Amino acid sequence: MRLKGKKAIITGAGQGIGRSIAIKMAQEGADIVIAEINPKTGPEVKKEVEALGQKALYIFVDVANSEQVREMVEKVLSLWGRIDILVNNAGFDRGATLLKVKEEDWDAVLGVHLKGTLNCIQAVTPHMIENRYGKIINISSIYGRSGGIAAISYSSAKGGILALTKSVARELGRYDINVNAVLPGLIYTPTIAKMPEKYRNMIIENTPLRRMGQPEEVANVVAFLASDEASFITGAWIEVSGGWNM
Ligand SMILES: NC(=O)c1ccc[n+]([C@@H]2O[C@H](COP(=O)([O-])OP(=O)(O)OC[C@H]3O[C@@H](n4cnc5c(N)ncnc54)[C@H](O)[C@@H]3O)[C@@H](O)[C@H]2O)c1
Repeated sequence: MRLKGKKAIITGAGQGIGRSIAIKMAQEGADIVIAEINPKTGPEVKKEVEALGQKALYIFVDVANSEQVREMVEKVLSLWGRIDILVNNAGFDRGATLLKVKEEDWDAVLGVHLKGTLNCIQAVTPHMIENRYGKIINISSIYGRSGGIAAISYSSAKGGILALTKSVARELGRYDINVNAVLPGLIYTPTIAKMPEKYRNMIIENTPLRRMGQPEEVANVVAFLASDEASFITGAWIEVSGGWNM
């Protein structure tokens, strides 16, 4: 119960990695806000968290919309009075090679990942500064560090999240707020299940552990970073990739 009594916002917690983070943090004693654009999956995860004996809220939000994010944070504070943990996990990809990237797709992908991460951090930070306590974990990707195939917008957004993580960590460290990034490799989620097998196998062949990861393997690391066991870690990029980037 490393997160007993803590209040956590997890974006994109309706499925995949975000859902596993919500469940892991609830198992560790945190109350969970599922900040999710999908009105079907969000309430399902809310029930799963409540079944573990923790409080849960489902709040519909598009993280790319700063006003919706501000309203979401205000609602959490009015209901629960505090926010200790923020996990920026929401996202999607519209993969394309360089000359095929459409402007609207670039804007949408950078909007959800990079601007969405900034929106959520800006909205929770005044409260965390006042409390002199906060754990912010941003979900980037191995592609943010190394680039990816047919993933121009996605890799750029995820690379931006890495730089944002370090910049924000430098600003907020003096307020006892830890800001870190987790870089998953290929993780088996509903979205990855739809990826062509040929493409998945290509990544697996370049992964020393020779398999995909499970969402729980990312959630374990995120929960550690959200706990006080990671109190002297900030501005770090931690890969959970089976060694892909070595
Ligand atoms: N699965 C992987 O292999 C992998 C690898 C590296 C990084 N990641 C990153 O991990 C995170 C989760 O990945 P996943 O595979 O679980 O994804 P997923 O597509 O299974 O789940 C993403 C969730 O985010 C929600 N979402 C999308 N846009 C949103 C918005 N604007 N506002 C709020 N919620 C929104 C979706 O509804 C969905 O529930 C993403 O940031 C992804 O880029 C995943």
